[in-house]
Amino acid sequence: MLTQLFNSYLTAKVVIMGKNEGIFDLILERGAIKKQELIERFGMTNLGASNLLDFMSAQSLIYEENGAYYMTPEMQVDVTENMGFLSWLIEAYEPVVDNAYGILSQKLNYGSDVIRKDKEMAEATSLVSFYKTDPFVFRLLDRLEFDLVIDIGCGSGQRLLQLAERYPMSKLSGIDISQKCCELAQSNINKNGLSEQINVVQSSAEDWSANIDRTRMKDGKNLIMCFAMFHDLMNIPGSAEKMLDSICRNYPSGSLLLIQDQMRTESVRVGQNNWVEGFTFVHRLMGQSLYPVSQYKAIMERHGFRIVETVLTDISENYLILAEVK
Ligand SMILES: C[S@@+](CC[C@H](N)C(=O)[O-])C[C@H]1O[C@@H](n2cnc3c(N)ncnc32)[C@H](O)[C@@H]1O
Repeated sequence: MLTQLFNSYLTAKVVIMGKNEGIFDLILERGAIKKQELIERFGMTNLGASNLLDFMSAQSLIYEENGAYYMTPEMQVDVTENMGFLSWLIEAYEPVVDNAYGILSQKLNYGSDVIRKDKEMAEATSLVSFYKTDPFVFRLLDRLEFDLVIDIGCGSGQRLLQLAERYPMSKLSGIDISQKCCELAQSNINKNGLSEQINVVQSSAEDWSANIDRTRMKDGKNLIMCFAMFHDLMNIPGSAEKMLDSICRNYPSGSLLLIQDQMRTESVRVGQNNWVEGFTFVHRLMGQSLYPVSQYKAIMERHGFRIVETVLTDISENYLILAEVK
């Protein structure tokens, strides 16, 4: 077990390096990489390139054939579709995990002594969503009609960009409490030349009604999304209720609310081949709980919404709940 951990830990770090330096992109683009390319394109020394290729081969990330290093089709899918999970843990939540003992023994507090890395967290989450939850989101949204989209807790803004491309007639707004996330979202929007169609407002979901005029379309159908964030509100007593009440106060009957989140099923958890025990533990380190689907529905129903549909995504215990203002 510990030998496995030794190798897995090191391999995980190397995989993140491969992602960040664009080495994996090259392998995925061409299916193979040569030592010479690591030297010429990535500035590695001859010995450094050999060492990296040897280690990656030993860990079965790649295999060698006639001087070129390939990735199996399965590995290509794995490093594409599951990279966000690794990045979430290693890049975004590293400070939290590194300080687990301090937090568990109450010597350190999450939020003041220890914080996650916001930008990395938003980037990793949107990568996870792209492969694991967005296909379910779009399948649902394709059946609905809306003119304006508001993404509460928009993170990197990637979801707004995807929506702008898929539903070109919509006007879109993103809201996020984190300045770093708003800057990241704005820069992604600018890069795509979509600042006319999408605006970003720095605000907390609970106090967002102060900015409502910047996000509401008077005579259209609104779709309000809140992805991978509602649990943040549920962990602060009264916050989720405040946001729901504010939506009902400010948006007409029939306005849509789509929540996607890591929830809990009533039945029992999973083992090692699943992400959710890790999600739960990291959230516990941040002093947060994950809540059952039934609790999401109950709170929405109590605060002015009618539940329309619930969909399980490709991640265990990760659901979409579509509701509308009564
Ligand atoms: C896990 S990320 C999800 C980002 C994005 N929705 C996605 O699915 O990729 C959660 C986001 O919610 C934002 N957030 C957390 N609490 C918030 C609050 N009370 N009001 C507004 N944004 C909040 C965070 O800054 C972060 O960008």
